Amino acid sequence: MKTDRTQVGIVGAGPAGLMLAHLLRLEGIESVVLETRSREYVEHRVRAGVLEQGTVDLMNETGLGDRLRREGLVHRGIEIRWDGRAKRIPLSDLAGGRAITIYGQQEVVKDLIAARLAGDGPIHFEVGSVALSGIDTNAPIVRYRHEGTDRELRCDVIAGCDGFHGVSREAIPATGRTEFHHEYPFAWLGILAAVPPSTEELIYAHHERGFALHSLRSPEVSRLYIQVDPDEDIERWPDARIWDELRIRLGLEGWHLNDGPVIEKGIAAMRSFVVEPMQHGRLFLAGDAAHIVPATGAKGLNLAVADVRVLARALAAWYATGDAGRLDRYTAECLRRVWRAQDFSATMSAMLHAYPGHDEFTQRRQRAQLDYLATSEAAARSLAENYVGLPFD
Ligand code: FAD
Ligand code: DHB
Repeated sequence: MKTDRTQVGIVGAGPAGLMLAHLLRLEGIESVVLETRSREYVEHRVRAGVLEQGTVDLMNETGLGDRLRREGLVHRGIEIRWDGRAKRIPLSDLAGGRAITIYGQQEVVKDLIAARLAGDGPIHFEVGSVALSGIDTNAPIVRYRHEGTDRELRCDVIAGCDGFHGVSREAIPATGRTEFHHEYPFAWLGILAAVPPSTEELIYAHHERGFALHSLRSPEVSRLYIQVDPDEDIERWPDARIWDELRIRLGLEGWHLNDGPVIEKGIAAMRSFVVEPMQHGRLFLAGDAAHIVPATGAKGLNLAVADVRVLARALAAWYATGDAGRLDRYTAECLRRVWRAQDFSATMSAMLHAYPGHDEFTQRRQRAQLDYLATSEAAARSLAENYVGLPFD
């Protein structure tokens, strides 16, 4: 068994773990990042694409903004479509000039890994048998296997950034945590397509056949989603069927959807999940390890970044002064934003998806909500304020 020592052991090289490592380095705090997958895999995993203003600001302020400024697409509005109507929500006009930026999650991950390697920060890919121990003590340990050797990482603190299916959360005794779960009766089938987007701004569509979303990644690449059943088999969705369905659900008189080669496709479940508290002893959970939101509000990645921003500052204060006050407030500070995002994401999801059974009462309510959004500046402002994201303190 080989033993190493660091200040913060970071489990998981998704946006949460990588951003935490980056922020800690800027504070002069050492960390080691452990990841089960390969670098190639995490750099090509297609997921989210909407960065809130706060996420963009943080990347710029911490020296990660070069490619983001060149390639990111700044959007100042989104469009909502339903019943053959379209309504633009002018996000920036309604939310104090704040905007969103379209930049793929895998691009954020590539930039963070490049920064990590440029700073000679340790990051081990393709580790196995990851297990946490001693989180109730002042010297927690992460044991893992790497390149055929069993290793032990002794830390002051462990950051569990290993996503919803990781091992960190389970290290907290069941009696020491409360979990909130909510499943939605739908999933998203997402495609990445080598075709110029048919829109300049994101289009969220409510249709009786199900929700659809037209997003984008670049002037040449489109990202589109359709609502499907949670147990849907992707084999039943050849590309032509996906495009036909997108054409129907996004359809608007005088508007045309360009189709093209599908580069990637997959189905993602929709769920809400929160664990409370997000800390146990010297283990701090961040990002999807602690909470999941349905994708409709585009909040998952942004919440992960917001958590580690709070954690990095709290750790910096603790190392500098020995005062654990901010670390003790970690859960409360994060959960305020998390539950706001849960509510917003659930509300957006409920407004825009078709529910099984096509209950007419629900449909009438959805239309009333959409109509209110289209005619009330207060309703549109509320959506805009949530969509661009709460400012950091
Ligand atoms: P992750 O990105 O999941 O990173 C966790 C990392 O930990 C992974 O690299 C994983 O390989 C690694 N890991 C797991 N177990 C271990 C272990 N035992 N030891 C070491 N490492 C481990 N959000 C949106 O806003 N819009 C979307 O369209 C959207 N689409 C999504 C599609 C899918 C299929 C999924 C799963 C999520 C999607 N999300 C979306 C959510 C968003 O991508 C996540 O909120 C975001 O990735 C959270 O970042 P994270 O770093 O917390 O977790
Ligand atoms: C994208 C993903 C989302 O979940 C969303 O609400 C909007 C856009 C995207 O992948 O571009």
